[in-house]
Amino acid sequence: MTESFYIPQTLSREEKYKSFLPQLKSLVKAETDCIANLANITSALKYTFHFFWVGFYFVKGNELVLGPFQGTLACTRIPFGKGVCGTCWQKQEVVVVPDVEKFPGHIACSSFSKSEIVLPIFNKEKQVVMVMDIDSDKKNDFDATDSFYLQQIASLIETFI
Ligand code: SME
Repeated sequence: MTESFYIPQTLSREEKYKSFLPQLKSLVKAETDCIANLANITSALKYTFHFFWVGFYFVKGNELVLGPFQGTLACTRIPFGKGVCGTCWQKQEVVVVPDVEKFPGHIACSSFSKSEIVLPIFNKEKQVVMVMDIDSDKKNDFDATDSFYLQQIASLIETFI
């Protein structure tokens, strides 16, 4: 496997996503273990886009439990409907938070996190089985472009879980 993706840092974020996706597909195709693939996806996203924090929370009973991630230490358990991640699970839809301080009930794992996007990941029975959480240290860092391409990554993940 390749040690890193080839994505010039001079590209716009959208161009980076376009280059990122096929490389990510090849990477996960080469491995069958779900955790191994999720771990590499967090690294690829963090080091390509320089997000502050990238990780997964798994649905376990009535809470989310921390899974593979890249970034600073994070809270390990999030109840259903709580915080941005628990809200994403409850609503079963992408949640974009331009300013975490304005999101009621936001769970602050780090004071450096300023904006956030969380995407649900569904199993074949259309149940949310995990969420993908990405934090930025800049306000307003996520928009419809991120949502569009990150949903493609979520769909890719749904093929191997
Ligand atoms: N901010 C999230 C908690 C997870 S951390 O950002 C890693 C939330 O409100 O659910």
